[in-house]
Amino acid sequence: MTEAYELECIKCKERYPKDEILYVCRRCGGLLDVKYNYSAVNVDEIDACVGKSVGKRAALGGVWRFRELLPFSEDVSPVSIGEGNTPLYRCERLGKKLGVELFVKHEGLNPTGSFKDRGMTVGVTKALELGVRGVACASTGNTSASLAVFAARASLPCYVLLPKGKVALGKLAQAIMHGAKVFSLQGNFDDALRVVVEFCEQENVYLLNSVNPFRLEGQKTIAFEIALQLTLGDVVGGSSERSVQKSRDYWEVPDRVVLPVGNAGNISAIFKGFVELKTLGLTESIPKMTGIQAEGAAPIVHAFKAGAEEITPVEHPETIATAIRIGNPVNAPKALHAIKSSDGYAEAVSDAEITAAQIELARYEGIGVEPASASSVAGLKKLVEAGIVERDESVVCIATGNLLKDPERAVSVCEMPIEVPASVEALKKAIAAQHH
Ligand code: F0G
Repeated sequence: MTEAYELECIKCKERYPKDEILYVCRRCGGLLDVKYNYSAVNVDEIDACVGKSVGKRAALGGVWRFRELLPFSEDVSPVSIGEGNTPLYRCERLGKKLGVELFVKHEGLNPTGSFKDRGMTVGVTKALELGVRGVACASTGNTSASLAVFAARASLPCYVLLPKGKVALGKLAQAIMHGAKVFSLQGNFDDALRVVVEFCEQENVYLLNSVNPFRLEGQKTIAFEIALQLTLGDVVGGSSERSVQKSRDYWEVPDRVVLPVGNAGNISAIFKGFVELKTLGLTESIPKMTGIQAEGAAPIVHAFKAGAEEITPVEHPETIATAIRIGNPVNAPKALHAIKSSDGYAEAVSDAEITAAQIELARYEGIGVEPASASSVAGLKKLVEAGIVERDESVVCIATGNLLKDPERAVSVCEMPIEVPASVEALKKAIAAQHH
């Protein structure tokens, strides 16, 4: 369907044909974007997702429901594990506490437990189409877990570079169980990315980090789903209808989207998704893209607040939110553009604030997330208090990864089970002791 697309450099606008294996501009080194011929996109097919007339795409569900805006021809069959279609939760209790109309999009409910599956279904389908020898990535964990699973489905050799000692146990378990060749690199994520980029170039292996523009095409469907779910009222929980009046002329979007930022691919992808909906005339506005980083790994926040055009890499990034323990985010130029041009914001949060938000999400709303994901709520809280986020804004926080990804951290911040003898008397005594 979407034959009409090319790769375009975000800096010098040089264009490249779609079947070239390229991650950055050959002329200036800039990042690449997938550009469609938007006037040729079948908007009715996408719009048919709304309302009673379910289009033939909509029946597919998930990421591939939006195939009109994915870089493949009609005859390509996707490598899929049933990714996407994640619930959008209305969070009344936590929202009231924060003073906003809060929704959480739980990307941790993707098959491998993170939003990476959206990118990988597109990235690995593209890898097969291009006929590469294998796939590879550097990862703080989730990317590797997802890639390992998709590579298994596609029967492709998979190479993974992880920063030694800094990957949560659940993620590591996934990568090794699904048969990736896993290497523990003596260095941090930024070192691992540098090494894997060179490895892929030299060995003709396909790089599936978020510098790969096709991966981001899958991740942009988070934006499409948010708009669709708000428009259809396909929201989990909450007693009342949304306060904002639905206009059937346009799909709905929230005032703001808040999400954790590591290598900065996801914020760039989601922004692109919202821009495309607007370009096609399906929506009227673009949510304020708001990126949250951990204090010890916040180069984008520093650049945003200083009004700088470029980031200064953080040399020794540190945070308990290991997923976003990244000092030199490769997609920083795209992310800064997304934040600035949507009138968004960037904020840093401490590890303690992240942990507090993780516990609040779990106990107020029943949403279990890993630490990095909780940074969105921690950041939102801080920005409401600072008056940067206005009260009564409608806000969607992206919960990027599942609680089970990092069981060790969860156990270390909660009360341990109380050991009791096997009798009701002993149990009641232990409960009574708790109340003192
Ligand atoms: N949240 C989680 C749970 C992540 O795993 C990541 C990134 C992010 C947020 C940040 O997303 O990089 O697009 O800004 N994890 C990558 C990985 C780096 O290797 O799994 P980003």
